[in-house]
Amino acid sequence: METDLYKLAEAVKTVAMEAGSLLRRERQTFDRGCVEQKAAHDYVSYVDKASERLIVTRLHDLLPEAGFVTEEGTGVFGGEEYCWVVDPLDGTSNYIHDNAPYCVSIALRDRTEVLLGVVYECCRDELFWACKGGKAFLNGKEIHVSDVSVLDQAFIELGFPYKAGDYREFALQLIRSLYGHVGGLRLMGAAAAELCYIAAGRFEARIEAFIGPWDIAAGHIILKQAGGRMTDFSGNPDPLDAREVFASNGRVHEEILQLLKTHKGLLGQGL
Ligand code: IPD
Ligand code: CA
Repeated sequence: METDLYKLAEAVKTVAMEAGSLLRRERQTFDRGCVEQKAAHDYVSYVDKASERLIVTRLHDLLPEAGFVTEEGTGVFGGEEYCWVVDPLDGTSNYIHDNAPYCVSIALRDRTEVLLGVVYECCRDELFWACKGGKAFLNGKEIHVSDVSVLDQAFIELGFPYKAGDYREFALQLIRSLYGHVGGLRLMGAAAAELCYIAAGRFEARIEAFIGPWDIAAGHIILKQAGGRMTDFSGNPDPLDAREVFASNGRVHEEILQLLKTHKGLLGQGL
């Protein structure tokens, strides 16, 4: 790529914050009557779509040779070497209910890995970002995963995918195994922001399956550059297809992985 990654990241940060301003502005007059349903309990509104149009236009100007994988389908991917992976509003249900967090998530990847990631969480005005080989940052300050290594102290985020039928039995068994044996369990509702929270040392782990690549691409590199680890439920690294996503500070990874391996037979087909 001609353009320097760090220079590109600066421009992507501006795009993410511009989209974030749009989300915040529209939230002030948001009317639930404009919400459409894509699938059971999976919603979208004109705000997701407007944010995506804005992001795709800006990113196309920045790197015309790159394709797009976007949640609302504005961009297209035709096998280009570079690809933007975009969630214009992660945490749509939170947004609809005026509940935090919700964010914009933008990643650039090549054919093998994520090169840069930017997540802008609108409610707390938090900009997380990282480039391949560099450090991870939150609002200009370097961030690192926590050093908690004991499961009993681990603060864990769970995600419940829209494919409830395929995930329910696994989720219930997971809760049975963790509840009362860890520092706390939380459902936050915005996967991209949650991965950044592990990167910033606020949480120790996050578990979900059957989500979109746009939910995790940016968070993946931010977590990795902050010292974290992401695998599928068998321990295979970097599951960017988002079929099974287990993220952690690395230190509690193996212990939780044993549980996931035990319970993964309960997962349906998903996706
Ligand atoms: C959803 C959120 C949620 C996760 C879902 C995702 P969306 O993304 O990240 O936390 O549990 O699986 O689909 O629909 O708000 O962009
Ligand atoms: Ca979304």
